[in-house]
Amino acid sequence: MTPSDRQTLPLLPQALLVDLRSDTVTQPTLAMYERMRMAPLGDDGLDGDPTARELEAVVAHELGKEAALFVPTATMANLLAALSQAERQAQVVLESTSHMFTSERGGATLTGLFYAGLPGVAGAMDVAALEQALAPSAPLRTALVCMETTHTNAGGAVLPLAHMQAVSELARSRGACVHLDGARLFNAAVALDLPVRVLARTADTVSLCLSKGLSAPAGALLAGPQATVARARRLRRMLGGTQRQVGVMAAAGLEAVQVMPARLAEDHDRARRLSQGLNGIHPALRASAPATNIVLLELPPAGHDSSAWVQELGRAGVLVRAWGDRRLRLVTHRHTDDAAVEVALAAVRAVAGKLMPSGGSSPLADSILHIQQQGVPG
Ligand SMILES: Cc1ncc(COP(=O)(O)O)c(C=O)c1O
Repeated sequence: MTPSDRQTLPLLPQALLVDLRSDTVTQPTLAMYERMRMAPLGDDGLDGDPTARELEAVVAHELGKEAALFVPTATMANLLAALSQAERQAQVVLESTSHMFTSERGGATLTGLFYAGLPGVAGAMDVAALEQALAPSAPLRTALVCMETTHTNAGGAVLPLAHMQAVSELARSRGACVHLDGARLFNAAVALDLPVRVLARTADTVSLCLSKGLSAPAGALLAGPQATVARARRLRRMLGGTQRQVGVMAAAGLEAVQVMPARLAEDHDRARRLSQGLNGIHPALRASAPATNIVLLELPPAGHDSSAWVQELGRAGVLVRAWGDRRLRLVTHRHTDDAAVEVALAAVRAVAGKLMPSGGSSPLADSILHIQQQGVPG
């Protein structure tokens, strides 16, 4: 964490050294606060908020779509994509580890839509299984096919462009629309060194989250054809997602999309360095090779489970999340500087020394753990 970051983080406890739970923990930049302070505001439920309109226009242009809609969360953007493109009793097809399927399917119980999960590899759905799901003889008509990049549960994996094009062509040839959950679309574009609009072209609608690696405090967008976005705007009101002087948030969103993507490569570099360091700690600890900013750390099949690791690392001032019984997730973001990577590695080394029978500890790691524990209350 840099001194300038500390200035923007008055609410973070100083003892909390490294937070790798998610890139959603990023705090607004000073430039965001300034844009929020200066933003022209209106009533977005009446005649519109000018800053929200500007953000919608900027994102639509960036993604090469006719229109965009500002919503509170990526979950709402994804739900609106389904509601605005699929009629009741239709099927929505997704890769079965996608966020929309594993974590947002509850919303489908309100929609009258049926979410069907297909097998996949590294977040990329099996195209043969998709072909079957789209067959005219299938019991339900598939109205929408969804992809996700970067793919959260596949450790920030990036869908290859050729795969996205194949899914898109197949779905469209069978009369289905395509939605792209691009909550971290800029991370994918950076990893592929392609403009976001090239990835967005493979979908009719695209959701984009502002409050993950892009550091805005809240907000997401759904971009797509004019008529679809107009339908989504009416549905947003029904869901209670219409806000009033929402330009306060949209102003931070403008900074998020216009300025923040340029630094995402740094997060990817640090994730790679973190992964390399983790792989050097103990032969039984295996870290994924991250394509973007998410590292998955596989724990040994026996011994302490992820909750014990989360707890011990937390005591050392390093916050991570359990991603299953024997897997941890570590996400790099704007507040993860080079020193934070070193602190995280030292903490994992020290905790490995404590929790794994054959060690992995070193005097340096032990002393860092000791210092951190002194500084963490409780
Ligand atoms: C790929 C993906 N889509 C959608 C979401 C939902 O975002 P939110 O919690 O902001 O609604 C997440 C959250 O982590 C995500 O990883």
